Amino acid sequence: MENILITGGAGFIGSHVVRRFVNEYPNYKIINLDALTYAGNLENLKDVEDKSNYTFVKGNICDTQLIEKLFSDYKIDSVIHLAAESHVDRSIQDPLAFAKTNVLGTLTLLQAAKQAWKNDFSNKLFYHISTDEVYGTLTNEGFFTENTSYDPHSPYSASKASSDHFVRAFHDTYGLPIIISNCSNNYGSYQFPEKLIPLFINNIVNNKPLPIYGKGENVRDWLFVEDHARAIDVIFHKGKIGETYNVGGFNEWKNIDLVKVLIATVDEFLGRQKGSSEKLITFVEDRKGHDYRYAIDSSKLKNELGWEPSLQFEEGIRKTVKWYLENKGWVDHVTSGEYQKYYKEMYEDRT
Ligand code: NAD
Ligand code: DAU
Repeated sequence: MENILITGGAGFIGSHVVRRFVNEYPNYKIINLDALTYAGNLENLKDVEDKSNYTFVKGNICDTQLIEKLFSDYKIDSVIHLAAESHVDRSIQDPLAFAKTNVLGTLTLLQAAKQAWKNDFSNKLFYHISTDEVYGTLTNEGFFTENTSYDPHSPYSASKASSDHFVRAFHDTYGLPIIISNCSNNYGSYQFPEKLIPLFINNIVNNKPLPIYGKGENVRDWLFVEDHARAIDVIFHKGKIGETYNVGGFNEWKNIDLVKVLIATVDEFLGRQKGSSEKLITFVEDRKGHDYRYAIDSSKLKNELGWEPSLQFEEGIRKTVKWYLENKGWVDHVTSGEYQKYYKEMYEDRT
């Protein structure tokens, strides 16, 4: 029996990781700790909430007392740490929230793990989920490898870079058994519609403007979220302690081209005339400090642990659009309340 604390399990990627581990590993006990911020939603886990190897705990990763109690009550063997403030635009509006959760929250978990495991680290693991944004930005050439120097530009990526440094420092200083993976942009079901793909699917459906930052020339490397969850599974079980693994899709898209694929797919599913929603494309003021290009070289993960993406992008996008169209109740729920205020401030008051 292995007791695994998964943080941020009610969020987008976390819910896919929790679902995978609960279903694939009945002999593991999964404890999902999540503060249920605007981005966390227990509806994401309806299908596993009654499983006997799953427990949900509502709480904040900065709450030292709670974290210490969880380690002791559940005899935690491993941590898969996903809880974070994750949206770049929000980090530009409120950087302190990102330092609190992403930096101090991670440090709180590291301290608790070190203390609970009393420096006996056999069969223990602290697995930290990070992002390719810590590496900064690329020109049209080259890829981020595990050896690329850190060069974060947004408050979000600076906070993730800082958390990565603390995780490595606990390994180098105290010998805490850690692994870090840095992944590219994820897409798929249950992603909060503040991020490009779900936001734009929802706006196309509702005939609302599609706010493209700058000229839409920025490039992102997109990975289907279930492929990321599978990578996390592989790295958790087969990764080497102290190592970093890059996870990416080898799937680069300029934002404007990606948006046209989304438009074509949604129009087709809704029976609209091909490309008719292209009229919704609206170029708006660029994101501050907008990184030009991200592209991950994930060959270490492929060569050493045998992982590669399973899904072609067009298929992943069709699955994703279908999911959002079939789960209107979920979309309506998460876009009510606070989301309306965020959307107005972010888009309507600035365009
Ligand atoms: P998300 O915003 O969808 O979910 C984050 C979850 O963390 C939510 O459930 C939220 O309630 C919870 N949370 C936030 N603050 C918390 C706190 N203080 N205490 C406890 N729980 C808290 O994020 P996501 O997109 O699923 O990203 C998950 C992780 O993966 C993050 O660490 C992110 O940096 C990383 N990542 C994301 C992507 C991506 O494309 N989304 C890519 C690479 C890495
Ligand atoms: O690269 C991994 C990162 O990917 C993760 O670490 C982050 O948590 C995740 O949010 C994501 O960051 P991005 O900033 O790349 O994702 P986002 O969906 O916000 O934006 C993707 C691209 O689309 C980016 O170039 C900005 C642009 N964009 C985004 C929004 C929300 C627009 O043009 N208009 C928009 O309204």
